[in-house]
Amino acid sequence: MTIITVRAARPEDREQIIEVEAKSTPNLRYVPQVFAEFIAHPRGEFSVAEVDGELAACAKFTVLPDNSAWLETLRVTPARQGLGVGKRLYEHFFAIARRQGISTMRMYTGVNNVVSKGLAERFGFQPAATFFGAWQATDAALASASAAPFQPVTDPDSAAALLMPHSAAWNGFLVMNRTFYTLTPVLCTYLCRRGQVYAESTSGSVAVLGARFMPEQALHMGLFAGDVGACLHFAQQKANQIGAPRLSCLFPTTSPQIRQDLDDGGFQMEPSAFVVMERSGLS
Ligand SMILES: CC(C)(COP(=O)(O)OP(=O)(O)OC[C@H]1O[C@@H](n2cnc3c(N)ncnc32)[C@H](O)[C@@H]1OP(=O)(O)O)[C@@H](O)C(=O)NCCC(=O)NCCS
Repeated sequence: MTIITVRAARPEDREQIIEVEAKSTPNLRYVPQVFAEFIAHPRGEFSVAEVDGELAACAKFTVLPDNSAWLETLRVTPARQGLGVGKRLYEHFFAIARRQGISTMRMYTGVNNVVSKGLAERFGFQPAATFFGAWQATDAALASASAAPFQPVTDPDSAAALLMPHSAAWNGFLVMNRTFYTLTPVLCTYLCRRGQVYAESTSGSVAVLGARFMPEQALHMGLFAGDVGACLHFAQQKANQIGAPRLSCLFPTTSPQIRQDLDDGGFQMEPSAFVVMERSGLS
């Protein structure tokens, strides 16, 4: 009989977790960069599963500013897939949510990842939105011309007043590092305190730029509106300034205008879309 156990990750699990990630998602690897932050988890948990005493999987339960849970980095090493490890980790997520009084959980996956999506559906998650990804290499030439003077927005109420009207166009989410944050006044305060909200008053433009983690890899455009050309130009300048090699933007499939804007700005589209899945009403 196979014995599966789940526990919180420990510092000494680092190398084995990195190996699990390397084998299960060879094209999406970031545990080495986020391990220290994940293990420090003020409210959530970085968890591992062992199969017959051998570390075989990891998963992260993160509490977002709106007090929802973000389920991420679920990885089961290929040799141990299909044994029920993923289901055990989901049960663990529900137990943490109960303990923490969290009523909504979300996760994302690629629209073609039938196992990951099916697993979430098995636990009552339903699609909340689908997003495309787009990116552009940082280019000093694109950043060089004189730019509209964007300023950081430091007052949370002003940030909410600038950002909330764009909620529908962005399907209620703002994405950085593939983390889907619900666009709420609480999030606006959080972004404002992190210095990630920028505005340019003459053209009435606003942009959310930054990173949840790994700022050295990409500058994420969580939202932009107003004079889009000015927003993209400012994002290029910012990326050049901090030395991030690319700009990244996830935007809703329901907003053809945003796609057009990014196409016009020379962005490239990622090959397939992402779906954010949601389970709410937990007691
Ligand atoms: C996705 C993943 C975490 C699932 O873990 P796992 O341990 O193999 O999954 P389990 O054996 O616990 O659960 C399998 C469940 O997935 C679902 N599932 C499996 N194959 C499916 C399919 N073809 N269609 C729909 N649902 C499917 C079912 O609900 C199934 O449970 P059931 O057979 O009792 O109904 C694992 O395959 C993995 O690590 N994949 C690579 C990384 C990845 O894609 N991670 C997801 C984050 S984007």
